Amino acid sequence: MARYDDLLERLAQYNAAGSLPMHMPGHKRTALGGTELPWHLDITEIDGFDNLHEAEGILKDGMELAARLYGSARAFYLVNGSSGGILAAMAAAAPFGSRILMARGCHKSVYHAVELLHLEPFYLMPPVDPSFAVTASLPPEAVESGLAQHSDIRLVVLTSPTYEGVISDIAAIAAICHRRGIPLLVDEAHGAHLYFHPAFSGGAVTAGADLVIQSVHKTLPSLTQTALAHVQGDLVDSQRLAHFLAVFQTSSPSYLLMGSIHRCLKLLEHQGPALFADYAQNLQQLDQRLRALRHLRVLCHGAEDCSRHPDFFAFDPGKLFIDTQCTDLTGPRLAALLRQRGVEPEMTAPQGVLAMTSCCDTAETLERFGAVLLELDSLCRNTDPPYVLPTLPPPPVRHTIAQARQLPAVPLPMSEAIGRTMAESLWIYPPGIPLVVPGEVLTEDIVWSFQHIADSGVQLHSDSGLAPHGILVTQTR
Ligand SMILES: Cc1ncc(COP(=O)(O)O)c(C=O)c1O
Repeated sequence: MARYDDLLERLAQYNAAGSLPMHMPGHKRTALGGTELPWHLDITEIDGFDNLHEAEGILKDGMELAARLYGSARAFYLVNGSSGGILAAMAAAAPFGSRILMARGCHKSVYHAVELLHLEPFYLMPPVDPSFAVTASLPPEAVESGLAQHSDIRLVVLTSPTYEGVISDIAAIAAICHRRGIPLLVDEAHGAHLYFHPAFSGGAVTAGADLVIQSVHKTLPSLTQTALAHVQGDLVDSQRLAHFLAVFQTSSPSYLLMGSIHRCLKLLEHQGPALFADYAQNLQQLDQRLRALRHLRVLCHGAEDCSRHPDFFAFDPGKLFIDTQCTDLTGPRLAALLRQRGVEPEMTAPQGVLAMTSCCDTAETLERFGAVLLELDSLCRNTDPPYVLPTLPPPPVRHTIAQARQLPAVPLPMSEAIGRTMAESLWIYPPGIPLVVPGEVLTEDIVWSFQHIADSGVQLHSDSGLAPHGILVTQTR
């Protein structure tokens, strides 16, 4: 069958041709379930539509386009978000039971891989920006000394950009890893857009990371769950990655999801620079307006210049982290006020709120956002900065995550759990970064920090659902 260069178009043509669907999915492309969803484009791996896990047709072409656009050696479509890609990438690069070096602030999918692969993690602690209380860039020297301190490290994992938009010096970190023959995996879930315009730079593929995982759905126009995995260099076998992608992802990937990745890639190929030039200009205009803020501060925007943050290697201007620390607002209160004005933020932290922009924002949407922020700024008062939670070092570890998950567990009131071993994870969502994981010992400081977060109005989540009042600990200490 002839190759088509657009998967969604091909699906529409196929449907119009009227072939009788004697195959999955069960809706048979009828709209019995309502007309809101594009049932007519939802198929399975029928003849002519390739197979994600053994791609040699239209899906292979699309993945080659992704590799070309981003400059990687090989790219894979992901239909289970960056989460699935991270599990597969870690399984491909870190042998079962091996030691890895990872940034403590990694997403929970990294911790899930640590659990499933019985890995022994050593944590890297990036500095915290003293003014905004957000994680700064991971210094290359921290990686250097981590590798010098711990022998037999098989993989280094970190997040760049962070949720708040802070980018690390991946080229320097990759060089350090490569000198020792160790692969570097960058969780670039928030950075799939850093490749198409000089205003948005710092992408990890360009900087030479061996494995890079990107959620196209987060910062580019593509359906939720869609993501990309890139591999390059000779430290990670791309066939091994392909194998683990088939392990951790469905064997029935959605053509709608893959079609949306394909459309997104084609858009970037043909209009990327123009789209991102407009986006950069719209953000600059927003920055001009935000210079008038008197109480609220927006990280690296408006009068809040990035040069004030020497611990940031680079910053993604698409992220707007609005800090309430010097005002009579808190993050949750600001989020509520934004919602009252029809603006839904991405994430709420005790000390601020994160708003995400994308190349699909326009001068008008950003102007509206700026106007709401200026209005709220005019309503709030300056106060002394409140107490900011200090960054706690990783707690003592009694068991690996995998070992602790196997032990009998008991629920305890949080106040009685000090000194006990965690049997579950606890996190704030978003961003889904664990605060503690199974096997770690609950210290007084940690329990106190949970209380502080809960008191600020930010919800704590745990596997058992008992947080913040209770927690699952291992039966034996
Ligand atoms: C840093 C980071 N990594 C990975 C993920 C997982 O991405 P996905 O939702 O595409 O599975 C997230 C999701 O919020 C994230 O913030």
